[in-house]
Amino acid sequence: MPPIAVSARRGAPEETEADTRVVGVFEGETPTDAVARELLDAGEAKAGIRKVAVGHEDAAGGRRRVVVAGLGKREGFGHEPARVAAAVAAGRGRDIGARSLSWAVPSDAEGVVEALVEGTLLALYRFDRFKSSTGEDDPGRVASLELSSDADVSEAVHRARVSAEAQNAARDLQNLPANVATPSFLADRATELAEAHEALSVEVFGREEITGMAMGAFAAVAQGSDVEPRLIVLRYEGGGSGPHLGYVGKAVTFDTGGISIKPSAKMQEMKFDMSGGAAVIEAMGAVAELGLAVRITAVVASTENMPSGHAMKPGDIVTAKNGKTIEVNNTDAEGRLVLADALAYCVEQGAERIIDLATLTGAIIVALGSTYAGLFSNEDGWCAEVEAACAATGELGWRLPLHPEYFELTKGQYADLTNASEQRKASSIYAAEFLRQFVDDRPWVHVDIAGTAWGLGRPYVGSGASGYGVRMLVELARRAGA
Ligand code: BES
Ligand code: MN
Ligand code: ZN
Repeated sequence: MPPIAVSARRGAPEETEADTRVVGVFEGETPTDAVARELLDAGEAKAGIRKVAVGHEDAAGGRRRVVVAGLGKREGFGHEPARVAAAVAAGRGRDIGARSLSWAVPSDAEGVVEALVEGTLLALYRFDRFKSSTGEDDPGRVASLELSSDADVSEAVHRARVSAEAQNAARDLQNLPANVATPSFLADRATELAEAHEALSVEVFGREEITGMAMGAFAAVAQGSDVEPRLIVLRYEGGGSGPHLGYVGKAVTFDTGGISIKPSAKMQEMKFDMSGGAAVIEAMGAVAELGLAVRITAVVASTENMPSGHAMKPGDIVTAKNGKTIEVNNTDAEGRLVLADALAYCVEQGAERIIDLATLTGAIIVALGSTYAGLFSNEDGWCAEVEAACAATGELGWRLPLHPEYFELTKGQYADLTNASEQRKASSIYAAEFLRQFVDDRPWVHVDIAGTAWGLGRPYVGSGASGYGVRMLVELARRAGA
C-alpha cells in the first residue's frame, strides 16, 4: 500500500481541492459550516463522539462530499476524541469512495492536529497482503489527507505523519506470521532503516555471538529453535545534551511456551510476542526521520521459544550476562530471560535512562485490560517522564508498585534467581522485580504491553495489532531532546 500523502493548508476549509471535506461538530454548538448546520438541523448528523453523517456541496471541481463528524463536548475535547473522530470519519470517507480528505482543524487544544493525522492514517491501515484480490469488495483507497487551519500546523502534521507511519510499519511486523517475521527478518528491517538514515547505525549478532557475549539466558531460550536468533542493536546519534537513552524490546517471534508448552487455544496470537521489539525498531526509524536531538541505543532480543530435543528444560540453570544465575522453572517465562541479557547489554553500552517494552505477562491483561500498559520503575523521575509521554500520546500507561517482598519471591532455590515462582502471586510485578536485577540501578521503566499490543478495539486500531509504544517512544525521545 503506497503511503497516504499528508499535508497542511492554511485557509478556509471550503477552499480545499479535496473531493471530501471533514468538519467536526461539538455538542450544544451551532456550527458555522453551512452543510454541517443543515445536517444537524435535519437530524441526520449528531454531535456525539463517533457519530458521522454525509452531505454534499457544490465546489469548483464538481460535487463534493462533506463528512460531518461528532466531536462530543468542547470541554474535555482533546487528542483522544480527535483520534477517534478522525478514525470514524476516515472509515466513512473510504466507504463512500473518497480519494482525498481535508479535515478542518476544530480546536487548538494540545495534540489535536497530530491526533487527526494519526486517527486517519491508523484507521486506514490494512493488512491484506496475503488475501487474494477481492475486486468488488475492495473499498478503494484514500490517497491524500490535508489538514486545513488558520494557523500553520505543518510541523505537527509532519511529526504525526512520521509517527503514525512508523506505528503502521510496526503493525505490519506484528501481523506478519512467524514463518515470515523471523528474528533475521526483523534484523533485516532494522538494517533497512539504518541504511536509510545517516544518524542511525545497526549491529546484528547471531547465535554464536550471543553465546560468546555470555548471554546465557537469551541463548538458553534460543537453543530450542532451529531458527537463528538475532540480537539487534540500533544506535541513533542525534546529538543534544540530554541523557543517553536505552530502548529495549522483547521480540520473541513465536512463543510456544517451550517444554512448559502453552495450551493450543489462541496460541496463534503468540506471533505477536515480538511486539515490543517491533515498536522499538520502528520508533528508532521515526526518531531518525524526525532528526531528534537525542542519543539512543536500542537493543532488540529476538528468538523463537520452541520445545525440541535441544530445548532448555524446567530446572536448568543458566548464567546471564551480568553473572547472575537463574533457575528456569518455567520455560514459558522466556521473555524475562531474553530481556535480562538485553538489559544488561544496554547498561554496558552506557545507556543512562532505560525503557523496555515487552509482551511479558498474561496477568497484566487481567489487571489492566487493553486500556493501560503496566509501568514498573526503580526511579520516580524517569517514570514520570514516561507517564507524561504516555498521557500525551494516548498510549496509556499505569504505574504498578515494586516492593522488597515481591523481590524476595524471585530468589531461586538452587540459583540466585528463579524465572517463575511456585507462588503465582502478582506475576506482572514479579517479572518486573526479576528484570530490575539486570539494570544495575540505572533509571529504568519496564512497560508490560501484553494487554495493549493487540486487540484494543479502539476505532483507530480495531482488534488487530496496535503498534502500541511507537508514538510514546518517539515522544519520549522528543522530550529528551527538547
Ligand atoms: N508472551 C507471554 C505473555 C503473554 C500472554 C502475552 C498472553 C500476551 C498474551 C509470556 O512469555 C508468558 O508466557 N508469560 C507467562 C509467565 C508465567 C509462566 C510465569 C504468563 O504470563 O503466563
Ligand atoms: Mn512465554
Ligand atoms: Zn512470551
